[in-house]
Amino acid sequence: MSNPRPEPSGVPDPGDPSATDVLVIGSTMVDLIAYAARLPEDGETVFGERFVQGFGGKGANQAVMAARFGVAVAMVGMVGDDSNGRLIVDNLGAQGVRADDVGVAAGSSGVAPIWVDASGMNQIIIIPGANRLVRPAAAAAAVERLRPAVVVGQFEIPQAATIAAFGAARRLGAVTVLNPAPGGAIEPDLLAVTDWLVPNETEFVLIGGRALTGIAAEEAAAIALLGDALDVSLLVTLGGRGAALRPRAGDVSWIAAPEARAIDTTGAGDAFVGAFAVGLAAGLDPHAAAALGCVAASDSVVRAGTQSSYAAPEIATQMLIAARAGDTNDRFADG
Ligand code: RIB
Repeated sequence: MSNPRPEPSGVPDPGDPSATDVLVIGSTMVDLIAYAARLPEDGETVFGERFVQGFGGKGANQAVMAARFGVAVAMVGMVGDDSNGRLIVDNLGAQGVRADDVGVAAGSSGVAPIWVDASGMNQIIIIPGANRLVRPAAAAAAVERLRPAVVVGQFEIPQAATIAAFGAARRLGAVTVLNPAPGGAIEPDLLAVTDWLVPNETEFVLIGGRALTGIAAEEAAAIALLGDALDVSLLVTLGGRGAALRPRAGDVSWIAAPEARAIDTTGAGDAFVGAFAVGLAAGLDPHAAAALGCVAASDSVVRAGTQSSYAAPEIATQMLIAARAGDTNDRFADG
């Protein structure tokens, strides 16, 4: 990468700004997760089996997953001045994520009601609240001060703030990773400062790609077409099938995901993005970093919840060691 950094030390030092490996600009939410054997049809009420309240938000999830690898992670975001806001900031600190650049605004913090069915599939509504108030100037200033190796963004905060953060990252020579989730149009100014674009299959279509068919030759053509049209490196997550990687103007390659018996896929895409960012910051080549993403995501779906489903630090460290050795398989998932 163009911004040479020391290898992640494994000992995050929140007091040392120069030690930041991954900076995530993005959302924080409190997740309200209902589990039911099947989800209701229009106008129907069903009995659920379980309810869990936990910490979520795509940005916070990616930051927490990254921190599980023992690298130095910082978050830029905004919470409300309510009790959830205090809990969210405390949680980030407890998870080893530097939260000095998570501001507090008058009003509500983000919340996300989530439904999960027996197959582990989810439906999510986000109510962004204070996430709408992340400011571009503050975002750019945080990047300039913390000088991260990799900057990660998503779509649950204003794109203007991510543009400012990625612009500052580009000036530093840091790598930028955009997860266009929830799916929607990408502002041209954001594309212009994005190195890696990491959509899932649904988002791939929403950002202009052709529907992925499951046929390798057709998918490779669709991915190359969109990568060229957007002039970015593309990494498309394919759920249980793994991921497809296409460096800017390069060839498409495939990364298989370890097999896993999914009980809750909530936050699996965020686990992928957080782990991929760590892989890049650790100096892995993009294919190995994507393989680390697949391992972390597959591991997460065997446990319930969002951040609570992510690998413990000891396991994540083993995943990173295995990824460095080019050895990624399914032995991490322990249910
Ligand atoms: O990607 C999963 C996340 O999406 C949840 O944690 C929820 O908060 C929403 O942001």
